[in-house]
Amino acid sequence: MNDNHGHMREGFTTTLGVLAATLGSAVGLGNIWKFPSMTGQNGGAAFVFVYLLCVLLIGLPVMISEFIIGRRAQANNVGAFRKLETAGRAPWHLTGVAGVAAAFLIMFFYTGVAGWVYAYAFKALTGAFSGVTAAETADIFSTYIGSAAGPLAWQWIVLVTVSAIIIAGVTKGIERMTKTLLPILFVLLLICNIRALTLPGAGAGVEYLFRPDFTKVTAPVVLAALGLAFFKLSVGMGTMTTYGSYIGRRENLPSNALKVAFADTLVSLLAGLAIFPAVFAFGFEPDAGPSLLFITIPAVFQTMPLGQLFLTMFFVLAAIAATGAMISLLEVPVAYLTEEHGWSRVKATLLSAAAMGTVGALATLSTSVLSETLVFGRTFFDLFDFLSSNIVLPVGGILICLFVGWKLGPKAIADEASNGGSIRNAAVLRVFTFVVRYVAPVAILLVLLNGLGVIKA
Ligand code: PFF
Repeated sequence: MNDNHGHMREGFTTTLGVLAATLGSAVGLGNIWKFPSMTGQNGGAAFVFVYLLCVLLIGLPVMISEFIIGRRAQANNVGAFRKLETAGRAPWHLTGVAGVAAAFLIMFFYTGVAGWVYAYAFKALTGAFSGVTAAETADIFSTYIGSAAGPLAWQWIVLVTVSAIIIAGVTKGIERMTKTLLPILFVLLLICNIRALTLPGAGAGVEYLFRPDFTKVTAPVVLAALGLAFFKLSVGMGTMTTYGSYIGRRENLPSNALKVAFADTLVSLLAGLAIFPAVFAFGFEPDAGPSLLFITIPAVFQTMPLGQLFLTMFFVLAAIAATGAMISLLEVPVAYLTEEHGWSRVKATLLSAAAMGTVGALATLSTSVLSETLVFGRTFFDLFDFLSSNIVLPVGGILICLFVGWKLGPKAIADEASNGGSIRNAAVLRVFTFVVRYVAPVAILLVLLNGLGVIKA
């Protein structure tokens, strides 16, 4: 199929390729950095429980909705809404524009953290942590993020890597890379799990992850869990719409979404099971926050046999995960700019990446020269992070549900999500339609207003 400018549209070629690419988008720093640190800060299992509910009731339906929009329209995130909104005057495509903006917002800080991860993989490999004490790992991290040049350079290395994959294209770049890298990630993660779970005293970490204490659950905690569900599953901004447009007509959309949500959650739990048992076994605190990955983990891994090897593996797997997620984030503006504005893929990629690196420097420098510069009481880093996960993605999620539930409506849903009736899933689709029309939008709105303190329930 051709796009507006007569380019042939590429797509994912196999069922496994579809799963690899979409799962590759979902799995990222969210699983390895955000999920464990937020779980640790919000009291463990109760947070995990609320998070799981958000994934099932909200994240999964929004993902199916995005797949439906993308595949039906065969277009980028803005073009897709334009094509499907024809019979009305409401400017739905602005939802698509907001999604493209959100891709930039997330990349501003995500590439910075990915840069830390790349740098740490390199540090671990070259033995920078061998023989250091826990206090020294804290020093290494604060010295590293307190400097400007290193983190900025790594952020650009990250952007160049991701750009190279995107320029290679949807099939040869995205599909091929994710299909190769995801299995490696799983194997490395399982090895780290076995190591952590066989440490003496590992049980306390497992308990922490699975035994809930619901007194910790407040409105902002629920909003944080919801924001994490959106961020984790890469939904609420059109990444899955864009990828959906590359999914073939014969693929089963709800089934692929379910597999992604399940496997992604499994990776988060496995990451938790690699981290918390080790943290507890060595007497560290679980609530270190964002530095959990960069201070606690090196400290913990360093104290165990073959520590340097496992530490290197852990950061390599984090780097792989982050890369798959960033590919999908960069693809959103690239698909938009090539299809709607006729730019070449190379030009769209390089200019988007350059913008991400330039503004992204503000986030990266938030831990050094800009640490005192606050906007709305937050550093640039925290502002980009908070705005995207806690506001833009949930609002995008509401609009996407409403668009699919009411604008496209039950007939189009049934047609697209059952491949014209060839998949027998009518009952599932009835439940899905009800959820996207009523349950998800209302739930998101309530959580959002409560979490921001606008209403108190
Ligand atoms: N899902 C990714 C993660 O958990 O790291 C982050 C992400 C990717 C968010 C793509 C949003 C997105 F569109």
